[in-house]
Amino acid sequence: MIQNTLFIIKPDAVCENQVGKIVDIILKNGFKITAMKMARMSRKRASEFYAEHKGKSFYKPLVEFMSSNPVIVMVLRKENAVENLRKIVGATSPAKAERGTIRKRFARDGRHNVVHASDSPRSAKREISFFFSKDEIFLWKYRNYPVVKMS
Ligand code: CMP
Repeated sequence: MIQNTLFIIKPDAVCENQVGKIVDIILKNGFKITAMKMARMSRKRASEFYAEHKGKSFYKPLVEFMSSNPVIVMVLRKENAVENLRKIVGATSPAKAERGTIRKRFARDGRHNVVHASDSPRSAKREISFFFSKDEIFLWKYRNYPVVKMS
């Protein structure tokens, strides 16, 4: 089933100029970018986004980290996008992530883990609407534009 999922390139990856390399991996794995923006999350917005973790020991530092610098947020579309993206992203901590995954390659530790990917279709729905309105998501089709001869 074709699905949409939410993908965030976190402040650590933005600061380390790893955005291009991460987007390249996403595209080479057949995901279609149907929405994308750069945003600086306020502490309030980051707290809301990660509300399910409220009360856990890592919650406050996570909110600080996610609001410390801009993030790049995308909607990605593919067959079984939620599961497929999670596979490419790898486990939360790079120490536990499989070789070749984005977190294994780029993450510093379990908090500064470079990317976020929705963990279920239900989360994807909530997370996509957290960042994007319907008119910011584009269902584009590939077109092989002909080369134009300039006179
Ligand atoms: P993410 O996939 O965005 O979902 C929740 C985030 O909380 C996670 O990535 C990490 O950035 C952070 N996180 C989860 N577990 C821990 C932990 N044990 N210690 C520190 N940060 C964590």
